[in-house]
Amino acid sequence: MTTSKSTVAILGPGGVGGLIGALLARDGHRVVCLAGQDTAAVLSRDGLRIESAQYGDFTAAVEADTQLREPVDAVFVTVKQTALHQALDRVPAPVLGDAIVIPLLNGIDHIALLRERYPSARVVAGTIRVEATRTSPGRVIHSSPFANLELAAPLDDFADHLRHAGLGVTLRTDETAMLWDKLAFLAPFALLTTRHRSDVGTIRSDRRPELLAVLDEITAVAQAAGAPVTTDTVLSFFDRAPHTMKSSMQRDVEAGRPFELDAIGGAVLRAGAAHGIETPATARLVAEVAHQANQES
Ligand SMILES: NC(=O)c1ccc[n+]([C@@H]2O[C@H](COP(=O)([O-])OP(=O)(O)OC[C@H]3O[C@@H](n4cnc5c(N)ncnc54)[C@H](OP(=O)(O)O)[C@@H]3O)[C@@H](O)[C@H]2O)c1
Repeated sequence: MTTSKSTVAILGPGGVGGLIGALLARDGHRVVCLAGQDTAAVLSRDGLRIESAQYGDFTAAVEADTQLREPVDAVFVTVKQTALHQALDRVPAPVLGDAIVIPLLNGIDHIALLRERYPSARVVAGTIRVEATRTSPGRVIHSSPFANLELAAPLDDFADHLRHAGLGVTLRTDETAMLWDKLAFLAPFALLTTRHRSDVGTIRSDRRPELLAVLDEITAVAQAAGAPVTTDTVLSFFDRAPHTMKSSMQRDVEAGRPFELDAIGGAVLRAGAAHGIETPATARLVAEVAHQANQES
């Protein structure tokens, strides 16, 4: 696979999927975006338009369809968790066959769901660090000076393709540790900034006891799940984050968009229950964020 080009489908060509699809298409790969009819029509006609300080501003021609109709080498799953079930109807298991499936959704529970739904496929857990915003169908602003993937599998040849296209890629050996490394920071960050309508700087100074309580719970759950995450490590991320940093959950709630409370907060509560770890501070935050979003909608 190192020399030949691949065929890659993008299920959900929004901020994350649009950026990855455009970079791969620009690098000569065949990219098929799977989306709703209106978005697919725009992408077939206009391609993906990226504005990025890191990669420059460019338009990449892609194919687009509402269904996967032929085998591909890999599928990136880049819808939000709230749209996952509906979106998967676009990818029939018999057509997908033994392709690589890389979900980049935040959270952890979608991995088991995908493995159950696509037993012949190779579902590889992935995470991405990036700030990429879909401003309209097919148009993405990439505002972070990085786009870094972590993949929990020895996918050396495919990782070379991704790196050649411009993405940062780290291959990890421990899927559980990789997913919890991300969730252990993301869950307290998203829940606290959304609940208190504050940036991370305000949370770490004005809400430190609550932050510590939630971190203790979440790292205890992560450890019970088998991930070597500590409160000190996650706290150091909080203390080093830019003061004004806000979470995407907070931005989604503010804008009245669907938000990933179940994928992020719900996942911690389910894992806590499964491992017999009490999570009262996290449960209260999840309930308060749900209530607050209901009031605002
Ligand atoms: N954006 C980031 O910077 C970032 C960073 C790290 C992790 N993540 C995670 O990555 C995931 C994707 O986030 P995102 O920000 O890229 O989301 P997004 O910009 O909202 O993109 C989601 C895409 O999914 C499409 N979609 C919705 N329902 C669909 C369906 N039924 N079938 C096919 N496509 C469908 C949307 O289509 P339309 O264009 O037609 O609306 C949109 O293009 C989330 O789990 C998020 O937490 C995002």
